[in-house]
Amino acid sequence: MRDHLPSRRIIAVLAAALLATGTAACGNSDTGDGGGKDDGKITLGFSQVGAESGWRTANTTSIKESAAAAGVDLKFDDAQQKQENQIKAIRNFIQQKVDVIAFSPVVESGWDTVLKEAKDAKIPVILTDRSVDSADKSLYKTFLGSDFVKEGRLAGEWLVEQKKGATGPVNIVELQGTTGSAPANDRKKGFAEAIAANPNLKIIASQSGDFTRAGGKQVMEQFLKANPKIDVLFAHNDDMGLGALEAITAAGKVPGKDITIITVDAVKDGMQALADGRFNFIAECSPLLGPQLMDLAKKVHNGEEVPARIETQETTFTQEQAKAALPERKY
Ligand code: AHR
Repeated sequence: MRDHLPSRRIIAVLAAALLATGTAACGNSDTGDGGGKDDGKITLGFSQVGAESGWRTANTTSIKESAAAAGVDLKFDDAQQKQENQIKAIRNFIQQKVDVIAFSPVVESGWDTVLKEAKDAKIPVILTDRSVDSADKSLYKTFLGSDFVKEGRLAGEWLVEQKKGATGPVNIVELQGTTGSAPANDRKKGFAEAIAANPNLKIIASQSGDFTRAGGKQVMEQFLKANPKIDVLFAHNDDMGLGALEAITAAGKVPGKDITIITVDAVKDGMQALADGRFNFIAECSPLLGPQLMDLAKKVHNGEEVPARIETQETTFTQEQAKAALPERKY
């Protein structure tokens, strides 16, 4: 009998241990991925414009890295610069019942129907980088991004200052961004307003290069063929300016000297061209929107109030300033 007592105790201890392990396992599966319970993470559906420029690549990296750091479950979609793809992606996010939808609209118009669908599904929407022209502001919670009109204006004001003493005509060509996009519309407007009081500053040609290097090169070639005297190029982003450099050099002209080049963005390659003297001035547009976006996504998901408009802080760069800033430039 004495011999049986310890073995009964051992069995009881083992049984208790097994029970405890079993309970713990149940607990894990309840809170874990397969258990169907909320793990506390929010799900963010993000529709990106595409990968058209260095700016866009840096923006995508910022969003992906910030989502990982903030513990946000990111569903990322690349729309390849097509509005129909963005609308499809947003509808998929609605079907998947994500917690929050964010997107950078490729163009300004044509969003009301799909935004209404998100609103009806009670999924809050955040606009990042670019805005929409919807009259109904209740269709989205906030817009986080740059003031594109201001960027165009800063570019134009710098030019006015540079050409203060000029008496003869100053011929300007303009490489516009994607047709119908907010940055193309707004940068064009801001630049035109800034130079308006100076009749000798004339935009002699203006066409879209779709924010790409290839587009910038191709359109600049046409500009150079059609216009024997080009004094200034205003490119709506660095990439188009970089593409245009090739066309200018091929035409036997010296970029930054024969033709003054002004761009927007200040990505590393653009800053390098500025520091090297091939560009003359850049109005900054920051792509590092990820951390603020994650913060906003959590807030709107929790039903907290957020400002209707959050403007990105930016600066401008001359050649000397680019030389100083380049070593620290992250993108
Ligand atoms: O919307 C921001 C603009 O889009 C950037 O200036 C440009 O480089 C990008 O493609």
